[in-house]
Order: sequence, then C-alpha cells, then structure tokens
Amino acid sequence: MKKTENQMLVIFGASGDLTARKLVPALFNLFIAQQLPENFVVLGVSRSDMTDMDFRNKVVLESTYLKERIANLKSNYISKFSDQFFYEDLGSDYDTSYDGLRKRIADLKNEHNTSGNIIYYLSTPPTLYETIAKNLAKAGLNTQRNGWKRLIVEKPFGYSLDTAKALNEGLQHHFREQQIYRIDHYLGKETVQNLLVTRFANSIFEPLWNRNYIHHVEITNAESVGVEKRGGYYDKSGALRDMFQNHLLQIVSLIVMEPPISDAPEDIRNEKVKALKSLRIMKDEKTLHIQTIRAQYMASSIDGEQVQGYREEEGVDSDSTTETYAAIKFFVDNWRWEGVPFYVRTAKRMPTKVTEAVIHFKTPHHQIFQDSGMNSKDNKLVIRIQPDEGILIKFGVKVPGQGFKVERANLDFYYSNLAQTHVMEAYERLLLDCMQGDATLYARADEVEAAWEFVDPILDYWKNGKNVRMYGYAAGVWGPENADELIDGIGFWRNPGPNLTDDPGFCVIC
Ligand code: BG6
Repeated sequence: MKKTENQMLVIFGASGDLTARKLVPALFNLFIAQQLPENFVVLGVSRSDMTDMDFRNKVVLESTYLKERIANLKSNYISKFSDQFFYEDLGSDYDTSYDGLRKRIADLKNEHNTSGNIIYYLSTPPTLYETIAKNLAKAGLNTQRNGWKRLIVEKPFGYSLDTAKALNEGLQHHFREQQIYRIDHYLGKETVQNLLVTRFANSIFEPLWNRNYIHHVEITNAESVGVEKRGGYYDKSGALRDMFQNHLLQIVSLIVMEPPISDAPEDIRNEKVKALKSLRIMKDEKTLHIQTIRAQYMASSIDGEQVQGYREEEGVDSDSTTETYAAIKFFVDNWRWEGVPFYVRTAKRMPTKVTEAVIHFKTPHHQIFQDSGMNSKDNKLVIRIQPDEGILIKFGVKVPGQGFKVERANLDFYYSNLAQTHVMEAYERLLLDCMQGDATLYARADEVEAAWEFVDPILDYWKNGKNVRMYGYAAGVWGPENADELIDGIGFWRNPGPNLTDDPGFCVIC
C-alpha cells in the first residue's frame, strides 16, 4: 500500500449534499482502511454559519449517510475520525477576501502538522469555480513553494465547447493543468477501469478488437429514477450533457483507444484524447436526424404506482424540450474502427438501473451450420458496469441430439466472487488517487474539450434544427417506440435485466 503524504483537504461548498452523501463516506472508508495520511485535516468551507462541531455533527456524527456504518462502532474510534473535521464560514459570498481562510489553513497546518500539501475540492455550483480559483490565487494559496496544491472540480465542465474552453482557461490562469483534477465518478468505478485490463491484459481480446471482428458496439446507461429533486438543474442540462458528454464518452474512449505505451497517467490520457478526437463529428442535419433520438418520459403507472411525467416534475418547465432519453449512433474515423457503428443511449425512468457495454462480434465469415440459427446470434462480450458487476461472453454450443443445432451459452465472471477483496467506491478511489497525485482517472482539459466538440453539434441541432423530433415514452419502458430503428441490421437494443446473465427477449420453455 502506497503511503499517502500528510495533507489537508479543503472542501468548498461543504454544507452541500455532495459532501455528506459522497465525500465524507468515501473518507470514512479510507479511514477504516487506514489509508488516510497520518496527519490529515478536512476543512469545510461554505457560506453557512456553522461551528466545527456543527459541521462534524452534520457530515459525520448525525449524518444519515453514515448512520448505519457507525452505529456499532466505539465512540472514541468515531471521534478519531470526526475530530479531523473543521469548518470555516466564508460569509455571504465566495467572491471575497480569502485572508481569513489563509490564516485558518495556516493555523490548522501548524497545529496538526499537515505540511503545506493541500487539495481544494470545489463542490459548489460551477459558476463559482473560477471565482474560487481566482481568490485562492489572490491569497497566495495556489503556490507550491511549501507543498503541492491540487484543485478538484466536479462536473459539469462547461455547458458547451465554448464555455468549457473558457472554464479551462479561467482555471489554468490560476492553477497549472497538472494541478487540476476534473472528477468523473464513472472513471472511479472498478468495472470501468476493468475495461482497460480486459483489453490490454488479455491476448484473447485485443487481436479481435477491431473492424475485422466487431460488428457494432452498444452502450446502455439506464436509470429507473426520474429527475428526483434536481429538476431545476436537469432541465437546463438534459441527458446528453448530464451523462453522455462525460461518463459515457469516457467509457467510449476506453473502448476505442489504442494501446497506451504504459500505464502512466499521461500515456493513458493521451490515447483517450486521440480516441475522442477520432469520433466522427456529425455536422449535417440529415445525419443528425437519422443518427440521434431524443425523448422525454411521460406520466405512467409503474408497479401500480402513479409516476409523474418529466414536464410535471418540480423545477421543470411545463413546455420543456429537455431530453431525458438520448440515443446516438456514431462512427469512429480511424483505421481500427472504420465502418463499425457505435450505439450509445442514456435515460431516466427506464425499467431498471443498469450500465453495460456490449461488444457484438461479427458472425463467422463462412457458415458451416446452415440451419443452426447462428445468423441472428452473434458472439457478444458484455461488460457489466453496474449492478451485478462482471463480464459475460456469449458463445455458441451444440444442442445435444442429432444434427448441428447451435444455441448460445454464457461464460461469466462476477466481481462479487472476489468477496474477500474490498472493492473501493468511486469517490473513495478517486480521492485517494488525487491525494497520491495520480491523475490517470481524472479528465484532462483537452479530453473534456474533445468530448464537447462531438456533443456540441448534436445539442445545437436539437435546439435549432428544422423539424427536430422529441418523442415521448411512458415512464418505466425502454424509451420511445422508434428507438430500435437506430440500430442497423440487428434492429433492436439489448435491453438488459438487473442480472448480468438475464437474456432479454429470450425465454426457455421446458
Ligand atoms: C450523475 C448525474 O453524474 O450521475 C445523475 O448527474 C445520474 O443524473 C448519476 O443519476 C448516475 O450515477 P450512477 O453512479 O448512479 O450511475
């Protein structure tokens, strides 16, 4: 286990939901696993009037997100964790002098011997990112003369290509790119990282990983929930900005990328950028019309419970044209992927919560078993990101009896079989990586911009194009009726169930 240097974590927006819901539980896991630095302090910063003790109560001692975890632990053990938390009230505005904050940081550093290493975690609305970076710089809190300084920023990284560029420039004005860690929690998921291992640590997959053997690639990200209490945010964002531009294009880049020279952060990130830059940008309305589908969920009843339509949700405009379903078909312009279609969809209010990538292989070039029913049953590699994390290979086996009837069989691996290994939560892994200066799983500025370059024309078409369709789908179904039309040849999406080996549309009659 690599030793983590002494340091301080300063969280801006510390009174917000993310701190209690994700960051502190992640820190708690690291505490239990004894992976926090020997001398470590968390300083919460925001505009709420709180004492250190109020903050400890809010995010640790009385937090609903830790309640069950700490219920049976000894109080002095819990205090050892919560005593590392402190709070600083910035007053009414983030755009203020940070002299008081600088003094507090210096005092805590001296009292707790945390050294000058500091991570600033921006868990505020994105409109404040640049302001905070500027004020940190003004107060001299960005200099690395006495210990490193790192800045973690949460998505969204911009709202469009232009705003993303402006944000990158704004941050880079005060912090060097190497100091900026753009967090995408999908990259912290063990199974997303496993994409790299599956591809580059196995000689059986990589030789097949190209247009000669792969027919198409399909990625599904489905959530059963609606927009919940985030209607106000979501209505200005939509599925494409909220999930596709970041999380799903990250998955795409790991599938598309060329083998990196090594596992060094920059080697991997360079290949990911190249991959994103090779996505064919859809420019003309005809292509955008054929290759993109957007839709909104509508009121329905799921398991007897009445569910609101998107436009009825709190914070959502009653005439909203924001998509809660997005399905995109695209191509990758490089040697490896020429002519291979990629189908990627993401949506709220689907029948289940699931994320998976499916590599559909081509059927054998020469069919020996003419009546085998093989034609419509390609080999598939299913990489299940969540839930029931694992990998499934579908291959043909002979049905016992006369002749050569072929049926699909499953070869599967489940992460849960590795029960003795602690699988880190996304935020836990990413925080620890940043504490140790490993940026592999963080998005670089050029990566983010390349992703926006691909997404911008789609958003522009959806907003300004002629006769752009917005479909409806009943909450709880797999999207609009015409969603399957996007998939050439095969003609339908694989609609996965909660278990990895669930076979959609396939039932065994005994
Ligand atoms: C977030 C999106 O980034 O990811 C949410 O803003 C979405 O809308 C969430 O629900 C999904 O994350 P996960 O890890 O539950 O798949």
